[in-house]
Amino acid sequence: MIARPATPAARIVAALDTQDRAQAAAWARALAGRIGVAKVGLELFAAAGPAAVAAVRESGLPVFLDLKLYDIPNTVAGAVRSAAGLGVAMLTVHAAGGRAMVAAAREAAETAGADRPMILAVTVLTSLTAADLAATGVEDAPASQVLRLARLAIAAGADGLVCSPLEVAPLRAALGRSVPLVVPGIRPVGSRADDQARVTTPEEAVAAGADWLVIGRPITRAPDPAAAADAIAASLR
Ligand code: C5P
Repeated sequence: MIARPATPAARIVAALDTQDRAQAAAWARALAGRIGVAKVGLELFAAAGPAAVAAVRESGLPVFLDLKLYDIPNTVAGAVRSAAGLGVAMLTVHAAGGRAMVAAAREAAETAGADRPMILAVTVLTSLTAADLAATGVEDAPASQVLRLARLAIAAGADGLVCSPLEVAPLRAALGRSVPLVVPGIRPVGSRADDQARVTTPEEAVAAGADWLVIGRPITRAPDPAAAADAIAASLR
């Protein structure tokens, strides 16, 4: 399984959000050696599938396949085995899929051996408000639901969690140092917020206890993505 980042650059996960496999591969080539991980999300995977994962892996970067799986345990286990066969280093599932589903994901990942993907659990989507949660029958405050799902996922065998910058400190306080945390919603000083409502800087996220930082557009939309990544890594020294 991928080791927790040992250098500032290794903390950076670049989200290669595009439908274009060649574009994703070009970003990965430009970023190899300057960041830790390349993230293939739903947009790229729906457009270009396993070939996109292979194209990005050719850069030498470990791949985070962000499929946010949520289905019955048997189906999720099958998807995890398929993803493990693509050689991905990280894979997401929804904690809300429940204990048995998360456990099935971990068990399926184990079949890939020592190089198995790290299973990361997503708690509450950051796009959901308290009112949205209430409409689905969750009357608790979002922060309580995040903590409940985080504990459930870790107890069920998730290797780590994806969480918003605002959740890093409370999750660290509740769960300690041992749980890897992967954090999107990161904006370097001076970059645009885009559609991210609650953002934090790379330095703030690491200070709060983030391990990996998921950063998309501030890198991929930069005139020179490699230079943008280098500047973020330098800000973390
Ligand atoms: O371009 P940007 O830095 O906003 O990209 C962030 C990436 O992290 C996207 O791939 C997005 O899907 C993902 N993400 C997020 N917020 C979450 C979970 C995942 O922005 N709560």
